[in-house]
Amino acid sequence: MGKNILLGITGGIAAYKTAAAASALTKQGHNVFTVMTESACEFISPLTFQSLTGNPVEVDMFSPPDRFEVKHISLADRADITLVAPATGNFIGKLAGGIADDLLSTIIMATRSKVLIAPAMNVNMYEDVSFQRNLSILKERGYQIIEPESGYLACGYEGTGRMPEAEMLVKSILSHLTISDLDGLKFLVTAGPTREPLDPVRFMSNYSSGRMGYALADRAAARGAEVTLISGPTALKPPAGVRLIRVEQAREMQEAVLEEFADKQVIIMAAAVADYRPADYHEEKIKKQENNLKQISLKQNPDILTAVREAKAKEQILVGFAAESGRILEKARDKYQRKAPDILVVNDISRSDRGFAAETNAGFIFTGEEELELTLRSKTKFAEAVLDEIKDWL
Ligand code: PMT
Repeated sequence: MGKNILLGITGGIAAYKTAAAASALTKQGHNVFTVMTESACEFISPLTFQSLTGNPVEVDMFSPPDRFEVKHISLADRADITLVAPATGNFIGKLAGGIADDLLSTIIMATRSKVLIAPAMNVNMYEDVSFQRNLSILKERGYQIIEPESGYLACGYEGTGRMPEAEMLVKSILSHLTISDLDGLKFLVTAGPTREPLDPVRFMSNYSSGRMGYALADRAAARGAEVTLISGPTALKPPAGVRLIRVEQAREMQEAVLEEFADKQVIIMAAAVADYRPADYHEEKIKKQENNLKQISLKQNPDILTAVREAKAKEQILVGFAAESGRILEKARDKYQRKAPDILVVNDISRSDRGFAAETNAGFIFTGEEELELTLRSKTKFAEAVLDEIKDWL
């Protein structure tokens, strides 16, 4: 059944992407109501949204309503979900400061629906200290932030501040409209490979793309969890509404995990952490003609999962991943005993359609009581199944 989606538009050129999102949501059968600030009307016409959604567009707080109702309250109550996109620095500042001086800010203050905010602005404005403080205030209050992307900005600058495309806005809305069975829980997820440098241009790493960990973070956030994702280097877009911490080396990942895990109810470690690193880092690029690098000595990296298991409280759930090939069940049972997470997810990496870098995955979930087989499916569906199991455990 179609949902009532409230779109708030503030003054930014990215408003054209929101128009495309409004059109897509309407075509999917949702009832889209648009509220624009006066500055938004300088960038795009209310008529655009009216034509695309088939609903009247509201701008003015005091224009007479069709029938008697308090306009901002009725719009606020009607929304199943609210998205403000683009959200300017000024508008985010108003929300953070509790100012409600126009129709849109008044509605946001009054609504009990989930509110997604998609900031869009110049990189220097985005990095401004007061803006970042305002953004953290919104995050603390439970607003879901659709993080801006990096790239070419309409003002001619390169950097962070570009609003994601319409497709991403739609995906964020739809994912927040699904079940919220992980509402109120805090998740920590690790993803991707680590990179262990040898000199300024060379490193040791592995083929992890980060897809599995990102899918887990994305689905957990979509089901209502507050998710922190600690990621090694990947080419993936950060999932909407997830707090992302980027790291490179295993030791950096360990530091970030140990700093973050204490207040999380669920810790999922899907990263492929390098077990070893080059023992010596060469400050300068190693020259070929020196012909002196016949062997690379390695040093063992810390085992992050073991460190968390030893430090965590009993009620915190620790989920490990294991990548195995050949006799995977046997090896996985052994790893489950040795590393002793609460839940161990095993994936077979001997085939190209699962495990490292694949779009799909298959494997087993060990919970101590059962060994549940997960047949081949997309990493998103695989992530959903892992989360279902965690939900049962909870
Ligand atoms: O990123 P993708 O391309 O989507 O691929 C997904 C994946 C195959 C990388 C993922 O599904 C997976 O299996 N991740 C764990 C891979 C791995 O390193 O397994 P392992 O058996 O070496 O480690 C077991 C567990 O200990 C893992 O939870 C790992 O995060 C953790 N570990 C490992 C080494 C180390 N030094 N510290 C750790 O915490």
